[in-house]
Amino acid sequence: MSISRKNNRRSFLQFTVTTLTLASLPTFAQTATAGPKLRIGLIGSGRVGSALGTTWAKVGHTVMFSSLDLEADKKLAASVGHGARAGTSKEAAAFGEVLLISVPYHALPAVGKELGDLLKGKVVIDTSNPFVERDGEIGVKAREVGAGLMSAQLLPGARIVRAFNAIGAARMGAAWQEPGKVGMPIAGDDAQAIATASSLIRDIGYEPVLIGGLAMGRHLQPREPLAGERSAEEIRRIAAGLK
Ligand SMILES: NC(=O)c1ccc[n+]([C@@H]2O[C@H](COP(=O)([O-])OP(=O)(O)OC[C@H]3O[C@@H](n4cnc5c(N)ncnc54)[C@H](OP(=O)(O)O)[C@@H]3O)[C@@H](O)[C@H]2O)c1
Repeated sequence: MSISRKNNRRSFLQFTVTTLTLASLPTFAQTATAGPKLRIGLIGSGRVGSALGTTWAKVGHTVMFSSLDLEADKKLAASVGHGARAGTSKEAAAFGEVLLISVPYHALPAVGKELGDLLKGKVVIDTSNPFVERDGEIGVKAREVGAGLMSAQLLPGARIVRAFNAIGAARMGAAWQEPGKVGMPIAGDDAQAIATASSLIRDIGYEPVLIGGLAMGRHLQPREPLAGERSAEEIRRIAAGLK
């Protein structure tokens, strides 16, 4: 990534996090998580990772941000507060009882190799979407195989739940304001992982809707019928027509 693009993105992130911080402080405390407080390791702290990590931290979970830029993650964690911390990807993977993996799809093979055994048995929420134009060969393959099944190959041993794939990152910190209004289509094969992910999804205001196993994860990406913000009921209706 060019430095200017990266700086632009960092400025955007800083703006987003600052906006979330300023806009949300007085009332976030009232929306403390009903489920268990968890340690969440974020692999990728870009638009999605920073928005979700910030929001989970504010409802009472403990998060560790990681990316390829530890210094930026330290600044992010300091601006989030609420016990948020920063580390390397491996440190975040070891820290998290649950991981959010939110990287460009072309980085997923490297993430899988880097984290290796740290992924074994771990609940992983996968937001990563394959785009042919951005992700090259692995993007093409993931589109053919389906993003859910492809992620399972690239992150062996992880108990993957696909979620947060087709709504804009800029809105991800807003659902808590009207809990349950927006549904979140998810897909996964592991009942316990689905339950854990669902609890975290509810904690930040979305109503999780399981649309099927990881094979159905191919429907959870932009430009698909389920993309965008929809009620849980609408998601169920659309999902019923998907194969
Ligand atoms: N943006 C959205 O609205 C949105 C919505 C739903 C789903 N998604 C999907 O979610 C994923 C993340 O999207 P995003 O918009 O958050 O992307 P982004 O802003 O570009 O952030 C990507 C993050 O991944 C990190 N990263 C890249 N390679 C890595 C590696 N090998 N190991 C560890 N971290 C690595 C980057 O670190 P550095 O900054 O240090 O390079 C950055 O923190 C993508 O697959 C995207 O398609 C995006």
